Amino acid sequence: MIAKFSRAPLPFQGQKRNFIKQFNELIKDEFSRYRNGIFIDAFGGSGLLSHNIKQIYPSARVIYNDYDGYCERLAHIEETNEILRAINPHYEKYKKNEPLDADDKSAITQILDDFKNKGFYIDWLTFSSVLFYGGGYAHDEVEFKKEKRFFSTRQGAVLQYNAKGYLEGVEIVCKDAMELIKEFDGQEVVLVLDPPYLQTDKTGYKCFWGLRDFLKLIRLLREPFIFFSSENSDILAYIDDRIECGDEVFKNYKIKQASLSNGAKSKPDYMIYKSGIRSLF
Ligand SMILES: C[S@@+](CC[C@H](N)C(=O)[O-])C[C@H]1O[C@@H](n2cnc3c(N)ncnc32)[C@H](O)[C@@H]1O
Repeated sequence: MIAKFSRAPLPFQGQKRNFIKQFNELIKDEFSRYRNGIFIDAFGGSGLLSHNIKQIYPSARVIYNDYDGYCERLAHIEETNEILRAINPHYEKYKKNEPLDADDKSAITQILDDFKNKGFYIDWLTFSSVLFYGGGYAHDEVEFKKEKRFFSTRQGAVLQYNAKGYLEGVEIVCKDAMELIKEFDGQEVVLVLDPPYLQTDKTGYKCFWGLRDFLKLIRLLREPFIFFSSENSDILAYIDDRIECGDEVFKNYKIKQASLSNGAKSKPDYMIYKSGIRSLF
């Protein structure tokens, strides 16, 4: 029996952990007619949505687009755990959000260098999320080594990560989302679209994502779909405008809302969806 993950096994910026309960309810309530159909998680990120869809509908074909190489990080999770065990003595004595002494910072940097020289895979994103204040991320060694101070981002030792069975049964691809969607032209598939949000912080991703990409994606949008966006991106005004212009794709769309973790300041995130009217069976 595989544990159901409600957050990604390794840190990933933009993962939908704060939305996962509502996402699962939506999949169960509104997309059950596709239980044996195809779901395309075109902006897969950490694979969290793919994992949850597969847990809910084991017979569905679930395609996870691993554009960021998250699977490579998962494949090396035991190496990451071993390095964390070595780092913990320099880390676990601090309180949450306390800066580490310069000696402990140097000791940790030395430990990472030693493991790297032994041929270990170094998951810079994970180590930076453990050591950088306020959710900072480093994609590589150069970015990591620029950081002036390390912090204890949790109380006590860093726990061991576990991804057992996480992507079991899920099909993994790695390509541009637009190319992937085009491959399924003419087929009835559920498009699960969680692109980088316009006008929000995207530093955790390897890509550039701008207005042009967003508009290209909208041109490929078709029912049934679930589209994630945020109040920060002004998406509802945009959709109203599309409907006013007679665009059918958003007509009669439905919406669910979630407030993400940044407290009162955060604007809501949305799942905008249409579940389709045709039955597969
Ligand atoms: C909001 S995140 C998705 C998070 C994911 N739903 C999760 O729960 O982990 C958006 C993702 O789209 C990826 N991305 C950006 N441009 C892309 C493209 N052209 N094709 C596919 N993925 C892309 C980013 O690198 C990032 O991983």
